[in-house]
This record gives sequence, structure tokens and C-alpha cells, in this order.
Amino acid sequence: VPISNRKSKQKVAERIASRVVDGDIIGVGSGSTSYLAVLAIAARAREERLHIMALPTSIEMALTCAKMGIPVTSLNENGPDWYFDGADEVDPNRHLIKGRGGAMFKEKLMMSASRQNYIIVDNSKLVEKLGSKFPVPVEVFPDALMHVEAELKKLDAYQIVLRPAQGKDGPVLTENRNLILDAKFENIDRDMEFKIKCITGVIECGLFQNQPAEIIVA
Ligand code: A5P
Repeated sequence: VPISNRKSKQKVAERIASRVVDGDIIGVGSGSTSYLAVLAIAARAREERLHIMALPTSIEMALTCAKMGIPVTSLNENGPDWYFDGADEVDPNRHLIKGRGGAMFKEKLMMSASRQNYIIVDNSKLVEKLGSKFPVPVEVFPDALMHVEAELKKLDAYQIVLRPAQGKDGPVLTENRNLILDAKFENIDRDMEFKIKCITGVIECGLFQNQPAEIIVA
């Protein structure tokens, strides 16, 4: 967790942990803020002997929950009572960009399956205009790469980068064995999530314009 924002992230992490009640099945987002939230939730569960279960959105968070002693379940077995996650950008309409960590497919699935969603951010994530700091990550079925790239250009993407892997050559592979295109747009209109998702070969994108969530800002 970057030192600069750690304090604010810690604050929202504790706010989220204070919402936990005995018996909760909690959808767990990914990224550094969610990581701090899991630590805070685990501490409460330990101290107060709460019986909770987690629905993690990435291998990383599944391992974190396991290490922290929070039992993990899956969406096919249990639905979430509520879900929390971080975000890369939040605009005044509460639309989000997520997926810096590449986990947006499972994150959106979890958010869609949950009745109550909380997005926990420090104020560096608040933007006037979506896309001003971050590109929109698009998870792509590998055989569809060229096709999706061409279709994103038709939606006026002015920069499209195949996300490189870190610590090894070649592109990043998601947990679902797909590729990620990071696409920059001058303008992201209200229908952009829908338009991107209509491209055959797109598994999911990191634009969240249609998933109601409460935003908690440190
Ligand atoms: C993971 O894929 C992302 O959607 C994260 O939720 C987002 O990048 C926020 O991460 P931080 O909490 O690390 O800023």
C-alpha cells in the first residue's frame, strides 16, 4: 500500500469493518484498499468471534482471506449480503473506473450479484471527468484481440495499449487467461460501458456506469 494514501485507506477500511455483523457473507473486492479492509474485518471477527464468510474477487484476496482465517466460499454456493471494493476513479455521477489490478470481471460480477455495494476510496480517486487519470481496462478473449482493438478505435479510443506483464516478457494474462487492453478516450459518454460490452470478444470492461453503489470517501 503506497505510504502517501495509507492513512486515508486505513480509515475507510475501518469504516467498512464496522459494518460487519455475525453471519455475513461478504463480497470482497481487490486492490490495496480492499486488502486493508480484509485485515480490519479479520481483526473484528477474531476479537468478537463473528462467523463470517468471504466471496473474494481475485486469487490474491482469496489467499489473504485464507491467511487471515476468514473462510472463503463461491458465488454458486452463496450470494453476498453485501460487497465492498476500491476504485481507480469516481465521478460526480458515482460512475467508476476499476481494474488497475485486472480483476474487473469478477468485481463486476460480484457487484451485480450483491444488493448492497460500498466503494471505499481516498479522495485522490475523485475526478470531475471519468478517464482523466486512468485508461479503461478491457478484458479480451485472446483470439479476438485485433477485432476488439479495431472496434475500440471506432468508439474513438485514441490510445490502446496491450497491458504488459510485470516481471516476465509478454502481455499480462488475467486469472481467466485473457488479455487486457487499456483504452484511453477523450470522452466517456453515459453509454460507453454498454457499447464496449457489445463488442464480441470483450469479456468485461472496467467502466462501472450501471451498478448502484454507495461511495465512502476517506
Ligand atoms: C482491482 O482490479 C481494482 O479494480 C481495484 O479495486 C482498484 O484498482 C483500486 O485499487 P486500490 O485500492 O489499490 O487503489
